[in-house]
Amino acid sequence: MHYKEKPIFPKNFLWGASSAAWQVEGAVNEDGRAVSKIDLNSQTKKPFADNSVASDHYHHYKEDVALMKEAGFTSYRFSIAWPRIFPDKSGIPNQKGINFYNNLINELVNNGIEPIVTLYHYDLPVWVDEEYDGWYGRGIIDAFEQYARTCFKEFGDRVKYWLSINEQNMQIVYGHWLGTCKYPETWFEDQWKVNHIMNLCHAKAVIACHEMVENGKIGPVPGMVPIYSNTGNPMDQIARLNAEEFTEKIWNDFYAHRKYSNFIKNYWKEHGINPDIHDGDQEIFNQARIDYFGINCYRSNTAAEAKLDEQPQAYELNKYGIKGQLKFPVVPGEYKLVYNDYVEYTDWDWEIDPVAMRYVLRDMWNLYQLPMIITENGYGAHEDVDENGEVNDAYRINFLRDQIYQVGLTIQDGVEVLGYNPWSFTDLLSTGNGMAKRYGLVFINRTDDDLRDLARIKKASYYWYSNLIKSNGQNWGN
Ligand code: BG6
Repeated sequence: MHYKEKPIFPKNFLWGASSAAWQVEGAVNEDGRAVSKIDLNSQTKKPFADNSVASDHYHHYKEDVALMKEAGFTSYRFSIAWPRIFPDKSGIPNQKGINFYNNLINELVNNGIEPIVTLYHYDLPVWVDEEYDGWYGRGIIDAFEQYARTCFKEFGDRVKYWLSINEQNMQIVYGHWLGTCKYPETWFEDQWKVNHIMNLCHAKAVIACHEMVENGKIGPVPGMVPIYSNTGNPMDQIARLNAEEFTEKIWNDFYAHRKYSNFIKNYWKEHGINPDIHDGDQEIFNQARIDYFGINCYRSNTAAEAKLDEQPQAYELNKYGIKGQLKFPVVPGEYKLVYNDYVEYTDWDWEIDPVAMRYVLRDMWNLYQLPMIITENGYGAHEDVDENGEVNDAYRINFLRDQIYQVGLTIQDGVEVLGYNPWSFTDLLSTGNGMAKRYGLVFINRTDDDLRDLARIKKASYYWYSNLIKSNGQNWGN
């Protein structure tokens, strides 16, 4: 629909930005934090980058919150590091870890910034991995519940918006890349057992939040990539639906309806897969009613038919930010992804597509009728300060302006969107590309190899975003 008036954002709209502990905090060996699996990945596997210091938010959190306040933030989405709260299997929480998050949360709340907190954003403690075989063993369910309950008990008086697990769908679909997969040769079947265990962890956290946090709200954070059909060919439309199911809808249907869909049950049957569902699991799911969805959305994809006799191709991510390196997957008989002539691409071959934001919000609303908070959206780029010590990221301003405008249109469409928290506030380590792929509104003066002085430098996008949010989405700039 076309509207004569510019979008109006609701009063109390949550304007902020987003981060994750392992990508921003650093201080990996400080104050009793244990080692997490993602530390090992990031410190040893190229092109991941060493996360020991990251953006050093652990030591700069006051300065960072002051910059948020100055920008006019009303929210900040971040994650708690499980290995800071429970560094070992003793079941005794680490007080120094709790203190850090108490300090951060107090700093936010005292500055009028609503904390939106993710329980799990990829930092699995090594002791959990060793004790329970990572996400493969059901022992992790109690450990995760204990961790979640501890967070609700310690922080639930001030944190009302909770998120359970970040991008569970991506952790399954890209299990090799994100470290969820431990045994590649059996992942085809194992992924559904692992996914079921993650579902139980999510459900236990949802139930505990409602039990323990007064007025607490909790939801999952799917990684959303809306999928278009390549042509009007009916088989491309089915491919689009298949791609959507296998990358996101299976998860979203489960969260919203609290049971597995016929689609996935038939797929398991067809492939002889047993996801190891125990008696009593469904009763747990039945109680886990979510309040909202966190939405991570950066891009769109386009699907076409993949005939049964086509050569399979695994998804190959663009690792170094040189255009044209990404290889889209081909899954014979299901779908393949293809380049889209109607959109531009970033250096990492991610589609630059603001309309995808409206599409995904409308679609999710039509399907589930649940409010949404945008928990990630952003533009990854190679960047450094110029000769004047500034970062003129005009491309990011254009990206954010177009994306936020589409959020506004979606609100005009009648969709309940509670907030916008792009990735990321400061530069932080990209999952695969460290500081080589920057997303921040605030530059962190370091590179992957040189820690420089870790100074915080406001980018042009910081000033632009600040003007927009201080006017509650009215001042779009030039
Ligand atoms: C999201 C993740 O999928 O995408 C973040 O939740 C991640 O952790 C972000 O950093 C951007 O991806 P990348 O690979 O460019 O860092």
